Amino acid sequence: MGIGVSLSSLAGAVAKEGGIGVLSAAQIGYKEKDFLENPEKANLRAIGKHIRRAREIAGGGIIGINIMAVTKNYAAYVKEAIANGIDLIITGAGLPTELPAIAKGAATKLVPIVSPAKSARVILKLWDRKHHTAPDALIVEGPKAGGHLGFKYDQLIDKDVNEKHEEDIKKILEMVKPYEEKYKKEIPVIVAGGISSKEDMNHYMDMGAAGIQIATPFVVTEECDASQAYKDTYLNCKKEDIIIVKSPVGLPGRAIRNKFMEEVKKKGRIAPKRCYQCMEHCNPKETLYCISQGLINAVEGKIDEALLFCGADAWKYDQMTTVKKVIER
Ligand SMILES: Cc1cc2nc3c(=O)[nH]c(=O)nc-3n(C[C@H](O)[C@H](O)[C@H](O)COP(=O)(O)O)c2cc1C
Repeated sequence: MGIGVSLSSLAGAVAKEGGIGVLSAAQIGYKEKDFLENPEKANLRAIGKHIRRAREIAGGGIIGINIMAVTKNYAAYVKEAIANGIDLIITGAGLPTELPAIAKGAATKLVPIVSPAKSARVILKLWDRKHHTAPDALIVEGPKAGGHLGFKYDQLIDKDVNEKHEEDIKKILEMVKPYEEKYKKEIPVIVAGGISSKEDMNHYMDMGAAGIQIATPFVVTEECDASQAYKDTYLNCKKEDIIIVKSPVGLPGRAIRNKFMEEVKKKGRIAPKRCYQCMEHCNPKETLYCISQGLINAVEGKIDEALLFCGADAWKYDQMTTVKKVIER
């Protein structure tokens, strides 16, 4: 969860409890002293720091890092994470078409995030044809997820969106089989989005999923790296406060309605005060708002000026908890 929501404290705690703890590489160095002068340099340094710290907390557990495909200089981030011994790289917000070439020779596992079955088909075929390999797992993220969503706005408001997505999960579970055979390895399918109970988890495991990825339930933990003010927005929000927003990344996102989002809607755009060089394709003169600034404001607790990413189930949580309790539940 970026920016700064899942750093070493949360990822380390999840790994310690037997999950795979996932750091977010998105502006991971936002607390570094030189971040404003040179965000990329600060971020690359912070990758190593957070991997080391997460490992100390995890005591032997597995640590991954999420690097979004839209990240400016994506390859430099992948290489830095590998150089610091990351166990797996997860990429969403676009498809990681070149990841196998960038990570060539490394033992690191490579895990794309896909949403509709079409994106799974594209990445499986492309990696096979161009890189002669298959993903080490696929994360299938559904329409109830938080942050950027791999669906079009029209798909998200379709009343049958969840049923259609279940069909896509079934298709993807079948789709990986010939690649498992060809490359003589398992390709675990991990389901994500709106999984908030053991029953939800079992539902997907019974369908054939190998695991689940959860985000929103971890935001309201003591260990989550975000400010308490951000966590409080989850504890206090109601179902109707959770909306689909436009993101400068060019994908729809899910967030809690606040003053900032109302302003963007009213004014059409909020011009950025500075550029944090976060994305490959962003024109500061045209962007709707600065996504880095909005997300940094969220993690730092400047709630009225923040983009408050959340999953569809954020309204279900009304008290703070711990990583251990979330995983036990
Ligand atoms: C606050 C927040 C930030 C997120 N940031 C990212 C991100 O940077 N990259 C990404 O691939 N997914 C991101 N996600 C999506 C999650 O990784 C996850 O797949 C999804 O939210 C799971 O659904 P859940 O939140 O209902 O458990 C984010 C989700 C949340 C709630």
